[in-house]
Amino acid sequence: MKGRSTEQMTMPTTSVVALGGSTLRAEEDEDRARWFGRLRQMVLSLEGEGRRLGLVVGGGAPAREGIGLASTVLSNRAALDTVGIAATRLNATVLQQVLLDVGIDVAPSIPTSTDEAAALLDEHHVVVMGGTVPGHTTDAVAVELARKAGAPTCIIATNVDRVYSADPRTDPEATAFSEMDIDALADITGIDTPLAPGASTVVDPVAVGHAKRGLVDLAVLDGRDPDRLEAALEGRPFEGTLVKSR
Ligand code: UTP
Repeated sequence: MKGRSTEQMTMPTTSVVALGGSTLRAEEDEDRARWFGRLRQMVLSLEGEGRRLGLVVGGGAPAREGIGLASTVLSNRAALDTVGIAATRLNATVLQQVLLDVGIDVAPSIPTSTDEAAALLDEHHVVVMGGTVPGHTTDAVAVELARKAGAPTCIIATNVDRVYSADPRTDPEATAFSEMDIDALADITGIDTPLAPGASTVVDPVAVGHAKRGLVDLAVLDGRDPDRLEAALEGRPFEGTLVKSR
């Protein structure tokens, strides 16, 4: 079922996005600047509409680099996860400063828990954070925050265009979904079993478990393309996969 998710999402007061680390780091400097510029515009316009936004930023390249470096000596899972969390907070700080620079009402601190982030969303239009504790990725943090902040959908902005039945890079038979239910996603990714430090799937299985139990829908899309992210944030049909949990 390739194509656009046609179902209209209602526009919530609070939106939460898991921004994969790779979305911040296009290969060319020019493309990076354009991406940050579009994100600033989107956030400014959401703020103008009085909406709230939680941005949970992934570690991307610095997480892989740091975990790779540490694993030359360490094999302890929690220690490697801690290095990954530091990288997510580095990327979150980059984004926080980029948004503060144009006068957006962004929380001045990077929260270390979703409870703290949900409380900061009562005081500021925008909260930017990274990871929290070992044992999951920022996808899981974002779904947890969506539930606590009352956002019905968590946007998973990553570096693949949709959820596929199998990895399209290795399986020519893989088919793409524009809509699916959470159990079908769990069949593909697994559910609740943590990934190894630095490993990745289209959606973290721990996040899938949180979404299923918390009745949070997921909008999975390629966040390197600001148009897709904007469509999902505005509750319009978007190019990607809508995963229904309700
Ligand atoms: P990411 O959230 O960046 O993983 O966390 P990802 O989704 O695979 O990467 P993106 O989307 O491309 O950026 C990177 C690593 O940091 C640790 C884990 O080891 C994870 O693999 N981490 C992150 C935690 O242990 N806890 C967290 O809350 C977040």
